[in-house]
Amino acid sequence: MKIAVLTGAGVSAESGIKTFRDSDGLWEGHDVMEVASPEGFTRNPEVVLDFYNQRRKQLLSVQPNAAHYALVALEDKHDVTIITQNVDDLHERAGSTNVIHLHGELLKVRSTGDENLVLEWKEDLNLGDVCENNHQLRPHIVWFGEMVPMIEVAAEVVEQADAILIIGTSMQVYPAAGLVQYAKPDAQIFFVDPKPSISESKKITVFAEKASIGVPKVVELLN
Ligand code: APR
Repeated sequence: MKIAVLTGAGVSAESGIKTFRDSDGLWEGHDVMEVASPEGFTRNPEVVLDFYNQRRKQLLSVQPNAAHYALVALEDKHDVTIITQNVDDLHERAGSTNVIHLHGELLKVRSTGDENLVLEWKEDLNLGDVCENNHQLRPHIVWFGEMVPMIEVAAEVVEQADAILIIGTSMQVYPAAGLVQYAKPDAQIFFVDPKPSISESKKITVFAEKASIGVPKVVELLN
């Protein structure tokens, strides 16, 4: 079967990475518009660069969890595409081979002068770190108000999927949250979240539990 897996911050929660809307709307104590918007970066680049330096350091200190590994096992029998809103590399580190990052990647940076100039970057990024053409480098993250370049590709994946897994997302941020509208009428949908934001129906099966418990159950059903 073709399986599309839409993941959000909840799939990485048990690896120790905070979600966005569980912690009273602040992201590690910051208003998201201060640290995840072009205006915030223009206004206070050091605050933004330091914020992502902390996020990058934290990411390098955590590990994938049982949910990430269960999704890898799904690849044994099915054609799986992970469409994640997360900027961490935990799906890749667990072994998933086909991952689309809708909101960018924390371990990459890009030139403010040429958005196609993207570099792998695991250490701190500071003011004065510039690309080969002397433009300041910035996190390769899709900030609020910026385009989501991979959304069309992701929509096509969902359109062709026989089953869709939605794991650990509050479904509040578009266009990602709108992807489920592209599902085929006969596609089976599985939703894993301790506080599910959609209800059970004939085509939607809800597992109101943590990803590390719920995702292996779904994989067991599908494999
Ligand atoms: N297992 C599964 N789901 C969990 C767990 C867990 N252990 N813990 C929390 N959740 C669920 C929450 O109930 C919530 O529904 O994960 C979801 C996290 O929602 P958000 O914090 O809104 O994260 P997400 O949906 O990924 O946010 C989307 O918003 O801030 C932007 O760009 C950012 O990609 C992010 C986007």
